Amino acid sequence: MTDTERSLVIVKPDGYARGLTGEVLRRIEAKGYTLVALAVTTPTREQLAAHYAEHEGKPFYEPLVEFMSSGAVTTAVIEGQECIKGFRSLAGATNPTDAAPGSIRGDLGRDWGEKVQKNIVHGSDSPESAAREIGIWFPGL
Ligand code: RTP
Ligand code: MG
Repeated sequence: MTDTERSLVIVKPDGYARGLTGEVLRRIEAKGYTLVALAVTTPTREQLAAHYAEHEGKPFYEPLVEFMSSGAVTTAVIEGQECIKGFRSLAGATNPTDAAPGSIRGDLGRDWGEKVQKNIVHGSDSPESAAREIGIWFPGL
């Protein structure tokens, strides 16, 4: 059996405000992943600067930080074999217009004509990102 893996998931302010936290968590649990930590919080600029450091300087960076600090989010750490890749598959493509039906973004998201894609969820993209992001949102876990 391969080692279990953890991923950091965020239900972004659009998903939280639309009452989709339960639907996202339902899909994670239905897939078979385990919830190991869960919180509701309004992200600070400092947390977002750390979380999105790789995107600093890109055209969507400021709108992204603005959007992500605009309201409450649900943060979660999930666990299971290959859950990083598996959750990104559940989430679907970054652009919700392109995201396949059946995925979170494909079923529940759309383009709202804004400077940043509001696409309901974030999921870590590698084991290194997951470890870094879990340290930002759940220090001490
Ligand atoms: P995430 O980090 O949120 O899981 O999404 P991702 O890997 O699919 O996308 P990434 O390239 O890391 O971009 C982070 C978030 O920035 C917003 N974005 N908007 N052109 C745009 O309007 C644009 N490009 C990126 C999205 O909210 C994306 O999830
Ligand atoms: Mg990303």
